[in-house]
Amino acid sequence: MSDKKRIFATSRIGEPAENRLRQNGYELEVFQGPEAPPKKLIIEKVKSGIDALVTTLRDPIDAEIFEAGKGSLKVVAQIAVGFDNINRADANKYKIPFTNTADVLTEATAEFGFFMMGMLARKMYQSERLVRDQKWPSWHPFLPFLGDEVTGKTIAIIGTGRIGLAMIKKCSGFDMNMLCYDPAYHNEKYVASIQELMDLRHARGIQKEKTWIKYVDFEEALKGADYVSIHVPLLREGETDKPTYHLINEKTLALMKPTAYLVNSSRGPVVDEKALAAALKNKIIAGAALDVFEKEPLPADSPLLDPEIADRARLFHHFASGAQITRLSVDPDKGMAGRTAQAVIDVLEGNYGGDPAGMPYVVNKEAFEEK
Ligand code: GLV
Repeated sequence: MSDKKRIFATSRIGEPAENRLRQNGYELEVFQGPEAPPKKLIIEKVKSGIDALVTTLRDPIDAEIFEAGKGSLKVVAQIAVGFDNINRADANKYKIPFTNTADVLTEATAEFGFFMMGMLARKMYQSERLVRDQKWPSWHPFLPFLGDEVTGKTIAIIGTGRIGLAMIKKCSGFDMNMLCYDPAYHNEKYVASIQELMDLRHARGIQKEKTWIKYVDFEEALKGADYVSIHVPLLREGETDKPTYHLINEKTLALMKPTAYLVNSSRGPVVDEKALAAALKNKIIAGAALDVFEKEPLPADSPLLDPEIADRARLFHHFASGAQITRLSVDPDKGMAGRTAQAVIDVLEGNYGGDPAGMPYVVNKEAFEEK
């Protein structure tokens, strides 16, 4: 057997980043997909003594995997910012660092959230269908339908982490008012800076109306918004004192205006899909754009696929970060693939003094910090 360090990747991460790992002297085996490998295969590979495991959000990573890697597995590198598929407590118990790809997908994800919102509200899908299906009879002031503007409206930003803040930045360019809510952390400085920018735009005549941004509680955010955009991580009961699982449910949907739209580019289980489908059907809210689902790919029997709500539900294939540079650049400051490769290299080469707590892309630093 060669003495090269070995990596197993549960998916391709693109040629440039794969080459970087190989050029670094590692033996890289890649599951060719396109689906995720069965967990059994991941366990088998980990048991065979690999040094690093590259994962996607489709792979359940828990004690079974860490146990299989005891004494050999040194890092789990996830090509995603979200890591709800990785059991953090288990990783900590086995003292295995795991990494994610925060930052590099922030702008791409936020812009996709913004575009989904626009597509939904301005009925772009219906408009294109009309043209393609040759059902466009004539230009008319309001027939066969109208959309709703985004400009000048109020948006609730649920979750003001990196992506929520990037969404705020984009919305401020569209003269939107903003109701911010975050269950854990308030970035008052950012919000104050956006207010300054808004005031300056108004003072210089760049925007006609004065606009505002403020932190409010969850209920006020839902009640006051024309658009509600979700940017929280998925946290289940038992993982935190502020779980986000089914944060949007029958009760919270009922707080929204009947004319309001929901946009979710975070994680599917943050929204109770059954409740959402019912709310769309009963016109409790006006529409929803979803990039993520409770179960992915979306099952054929999902209530969200009900033809009766097709005009109100825009559905995408977990695609928000799916842009060329964001996904594939080998530069760790630009691409998820590059960041994943660098995260593996940091651990396997013992960069940062070999201390995972000092490595920028390690998530579970707490497992390595001096108590
Ligand atoms: C995608 O959903 C990610 O978490 O990167």
